[in-house]
Amino acid sequence: MSGFYGLIGPLIRLVDPETAHGLALKTLRCGLVPYQHITPDPILATRLWGMEFPNPVGLAAGFDKDADVPDAMLKQGFGFVEVGSITPRRQSGNPKPRLFRLSKDGAVINRMGFNNKGMEEARERLAARADHGGIVGVNLGKNKDTEDAVSDYILGINALAPYASYVVINVSSPNTPGLRALQGREPLEHLLRGVRSALDAAVPENTPPLLLKIAPDLTNEDKADIADVVIAEGVNGLIVGNTTITRPDELQSPKASEAGGLSGKPLFGLSTRVLSDMYRRTGGKVPLIGVGGVGSTETAYAKIRAGASLVQLYSVMVYEGPAVIGEILRGLAKLLRADGYSSLTDAVGADHR
Ligand SMILES: Cc1cc2nc3c(=O)[nH]c(=O)nc-3n(C[C@H](O)[C@H](O)[C@H](O)COP(=O)(O)O)c2cc1C
Repeated sequence: MSGFYGLIGPLIRLVDPETAHGLALKTLRCGLVPYQHITPDPILATRLWGMEFPNPVGLAAGFDKDADVPDAMLKQGFGFVEVGSITPRRQSGNPKPRLFRLSKDGAVINRMGFNNKGMEEARERLAARADHGGIVGVNLGKNKDTEDAVSDYILGINALAPYASYVVINVSSPNTPGLRALQGREPLEHLLRGVRSALDAAVPENTPPLLLKIAPDLTNEDKADIADVVIAEGVNGLIVGNTTITRPDELQSPKASEAGGLSGKPLFGLSTRVLSDMYRRTGGKVPLIGVGGVGSTETAYAKIRAGASLVQLYSVMVYEGPAVIGEILRGLAKLLRADGYSSLTDAVGADHR
């Protein structure tokens, strides 16, 4: 850990995690967080879905739920930023406390429950930055009290897809009752058919790619069904994956028994196994974003070798701040060259060959 965050990080961790997150958003909004000066290394540039990603390390959903600070986060060095999850209507989420640091484990547990200001506010902010460039994906969720989930995702698409570099259908948050059941074969087919036609209609030209974000807690049957349906319904990418409701034995922190989704270091092994499995099941034909416990050059590189075309991170920033982005990027470029690759794309799925 170094620089600005090295100085203020220990102070931030004295404050409860949700207050600290609110302060981070405020300082980012005011432009008070110094930019990270990262020289783009051409070996890390990736062309995917017709877009040029300057580097493969993105900000995962949940940090910027309301599309408040996508530009500030791009300036921190991320190759792309995902905002959301955004639901059609504003909702307050679960009662506090709902966000916990597991410091001994380098982990986080959250049961936020899609707290967000709703799609209209997000639309205003995304429209205001539409000509700023940079790759900003929009992650969509459903309101807790909506019965017909598909209708909520379609509302989100109609409002936000015109401003999205890519659209994510999030069916994997553990904190919205019933949401993860949408990953089953029939509900998933029904959902993806609905959102695919809505997306094609909402943005008929330059239609943004459609991605599905899945949980790491899936049976083999679930994974087989997801791979089939994703290919059949023309989904352009998979994000693998969300937080886990499992609690690995090695957890040491007293907060480990809090309810919610676990992320950070202890999620790395599980989420990378699921990533590898989905790469195999989709024959490497569906681009994957690997997320879960990425916090170092080695973990990012392992995701890429397991099949990720891009990676994302969130929890490590709670502990190390944004300087970790530059560290990962510098290390990745070195590892790729050491292994004889001339571009990152060549290393994607290397462990399967
Ligand atoms: C506080 C918090 C809130 C999150 N909110 C969302 C969300 O709204 N939508 C979503 O798809 N994922 C959400 N996530 C999951 C992350 O995007 C990511 O999939 C997960 O944390 C694993 O990555 P990590 O180990 O790098 O944190 C959230 C994670 C955290 C820690």
